[in-house]
Amino acid sequence: MQFVKKISEELYWVGANDRRLALFENVYPIPRGVSYNSYLWTDEKTVLFDTVDKAVSHQFFENIQAVLGDRPLDYLVVTHMEPDHCAVIDELVLRYPNVKIICNTKIQGLIKQFFDFDIDSRAVIVKEKDTFSSGKHTFTFVSAPMVHWPEVMVAYESTEGILFSADAFGTFGAINGNIFADEVNIDRDWMDDYRRYYTNIVGKYGVQVQALLKKAAGLDIKMICPLHGLIWRENIGELIEKYQLWSSYTPEDAAVTLFYGSIYGNTENAVDILAGKLADRGVKNITVYDASVTHASYLISEAFRCSHIVFASATYNNGIFVSMENLLHDLAAHNLQNRTMAIIQNGSWSPASGRLMKEILSSLKNNTILEEELTLKSSLKPEQEQSLDALADAIAASVVPGFENEKKDEGKENGSMKKYVCDVCGYVYDEAEGDPDNGVAAGTKWEDVPEDWVCPLCGVGKDQFSEEA
Ligand code: FEO
Repeated sequence: MQFVKKISEELYWVGANDRRLALFENVYPIPRGVSYNSYLWTDEKTVLFDTVDKAVSHQFFENIQAVLGDRPLDYLVVTHMEPDHCAVIDELVLRYPNVKIICNTKIQGLIKQFFDFDIDSRAVIVKEKDTFSSGKHTFTFVSAPMVHWPEVMVAYESTEGILFSADAFGTFGAINGNIFADEVNIDRDWMDDYRRYYTNIVGKYGVQVQALLKKAAGLDIKMICPLHGLIWRENIGELIEKYQLWSSYTPEDAAVTLFYGSIYGNTENAVDILAGKLADRGVKNITVYDASVTHASYLISEAFRCSHIVFASATYNNGIFVSMENLLHDLAAHNLQNRTMAIIQNGSWSPASGRLMKEILSSLKNNTILEEELTLKSSLKPEQEQSLDALADAIAASVVPGFENEKKDEGKENGSMKKYVCDVCGYVYDEAEGDPDNGVAAGTKWEDVPEDWVCPLCGVGKDQFSEEA
């Protein structure tokens, strides 16, 4: 039976939910499902906006049939050619052979790539700001490249002020009866999914989203109909404000999140203790995640929310621990900017993850990586508590209003300490830590290390070491 929702006098939602799919785009877990939204106008001409994923085609065609009755389908508007919205266009053409397809030339080209039916004979090509009238309703088409693919366009219906926004303003989460955002508790039940959807799907394209927001600012928008999730008709400014923050890479909250990659729990232990020390300094709402356990999409979302991020990783195969390395590359791919970051590394014989994490993070724009950092050799030791306190002080000083960093000077001094890497085996001599097991006290500058000192790992002399970049 049909599952149709009436949106306004002549507008119907004819999409469908999928709660069986485990991974959206075969990447992102969607425990609350997802909706594929399609909208049908029953004006003098009948106009369908987009189709759905193949998995829900049965429900979709039943919905269209229920609304159309004996009427033909005159037009299909295609705003986005990703298969979660376009997969059944060929079947639609078979069922409604006289349907015309309104699209731009990029969409026309993608239809040819995905399908074999004759698009040219039924295409109505629109360019930037072209309009189309279905009778009482007029639609203006505006390009929105890379939100989320290059062909994307949005459509604005001027009589009722409805923006068909394609992927923009969408979310993970199936529609649970209530189709309007003002019928649910957005902050409690939905905002995390809005953020996770935005940051993972279009987070990389902040510049392009900003361009779309500028175009939208000139419109009197009374309703937003996206291709996933809820329809907005109240408090639209709140969602647009979130998009302003996310697309400009501005943290939503002055908050600290800590991500760790830990093999046997020793790196995790240091992170837990650091989190506790941050709480002691007045940091609220701290979050801690094991990058091996929590799916990266949640951590991407959390990184976009928080102003401060601690990355802690074991050294593994002389590199970064697997799950942390994947997360860092994922964050880099999503263009994360404007954060304060801190590093903790662990390595039982040759710690390297800190330097390598910094290399990846340094490729991102406008982030501050704190000088205070911590190196564990297998596990955190009581004599390192001072270093951990210095790290907690440095983080708290920039996130807690009015926090006095009493150990600021000490921290700076510690931060000026250098490291030297063995060219043969990768062992790192850290001036802050020295090599007490071999008679070199913590805080010993490289030039003061005895000339007969040798690498504790491979036995080569000081001449085989280079200053860490
Ligand atoms: Fe929902 Fe980019 O497709």
